[in-house]
Amino acid sequence: MKFSFFYLAIALSFQIAILNAQPRGIHISWNGTGKTATTMAVTWLNDNTDNGVVKYGTKAENLDQTVTAIEAFSSGVKTYVSKATIQSLKPATYYFYKVGSDRNGWSAVYKFKTAPADGDKSKIFIGLWSDTQNNGGNLNFEQTDTIVKQLSKNTYDFTIHTGDIVENGSVAKSWNGYFNTGQPVNSNMPLMSVPGNHDVVNDTTSKIFQRPFPVFFELMNLPGDQLNYSYNYGNAHFIAINSGYAQGAEKVGKVLFAENSEEYKWLEADLKNARQDKNVKWIIMYSHYPLFVFGVSHIQTWQNHIQPLVDKYKVDLYIAGHRHVYERHKAIKGTQIFEQADVHVYNKPQGTVYVNNGSSGGSLQGAGGWDMPDMLFTPRQKIYTYSEMTIQGNTIAYKVFDKQGNPVDYFKLIKD
Ligand SMILES: [Fe+2]
Repeated sequence: MKFSFFYLAIALSFQIAILNAQPRGIHISWNGTGKTATTMAVTWLNDNTDNGVVKYGTKAENLDQTVTAIEAFSSGVKTYVSKATIQSLKPATYYFYKVGSDRNGWSAVYKFKTAPADGDKSKIFIGLWSDTQNNGGNLNFEQTDTIVKQLSKNTYDFTIHTGDIVENGSVAKSWNGYFNTGQPVNSNMPLMSVPGNHDVVNDTTSKIFQRPFPVFFELMNLPGDQLNYSYNYGNAHFIAINSGYAQGAEKVGKVLFAENSEEYKWLEADLKNARQDKNVKWIIMYSHYPLFVFGVSHIQTWQNHIQPLVDKYKVDLYIAGHRHVYERHKAIKGTQIFEQADVHVYNKPQGTVYVNNGSSGGSLQGAGGWDMPDMLFTPRQKIYTYSEMTIQGNTIAYKVFDKQGNPVDYFKLIKD
């Protein structure tokens, strides 16, 4: 009797080991090795060395193609991270995939859609979230889990996450928690994120000031240096920029994107190219720190550095996070604030529309700012939110929901 119990225990522990070894934290993204229409990067975590692969195809029951991942041990999360890039895909096509190996097990089958060709005018549908950080009230990503449940009801072409992914970027448990909680969204829709101040080293005296913790680079699979990058999707151009720890940086005169800095030159060249590109109708920028926001989150130097370029190249929409509220501002250019007849319609605005989406998990901050001259809408209560935007024809339609999926706000941005 004792003997068989011993073998049962061995068998159970073996099974648990296999379960633990299964791929987890699966997320997809574009990493700049090719166009969004023809590539997809797949990243996952695995407790055992695996030499895993991505099996994929256009039918869920026939994953007939294989790409081998590059596997590396992450000292940040103390597990193996596998990264694979699928190339030569067809534009605007659904693919199914799974990751893993016969040795350690396989994931479920997920699916993604490639972008249409550059310049294609088809509808673009994007999910938006931010500040999922696991601080008070969201210690185990409970609030973020409710947002993930809402986001995963939809099939967005991709999602934009404007940073503060975790509360403390040096804590492995937080990254594991985010990628496990976010998997239902991030395994089916590319995650195009930027780091927030909680994801970066906040040591104003060290040379790695404003750089994310190494684990960020180990886990993410984004274009270029993974901090400042851009990509086209259909007829829209997206630019993601790293604001680092702007609040701390302001005190010591190290706010990023100072005129003629390397990152400023890169941004200006990217904006100039995009505005000259006949395939680009819309330019949408995003960063963690906002240019315009109520309260102490407003960093004047950050605004001073970025806004001249936003104005010069007529960026249509600027999205940020950091302050844990949803806020929407009147169109702004320089110091000029443009009034509008309909609070929900920006009709051919002469300035840029600024939106703050900072309430997808981290402890909420108080409502306020209704007396700001440029404030157009912010909820009067503390409220968790996520957003979605549809880009089609000459309109961006933007909708904001609470964590139960009830509408909070909407607007339309119309251009010629
Ligand atoms: Fe932040």
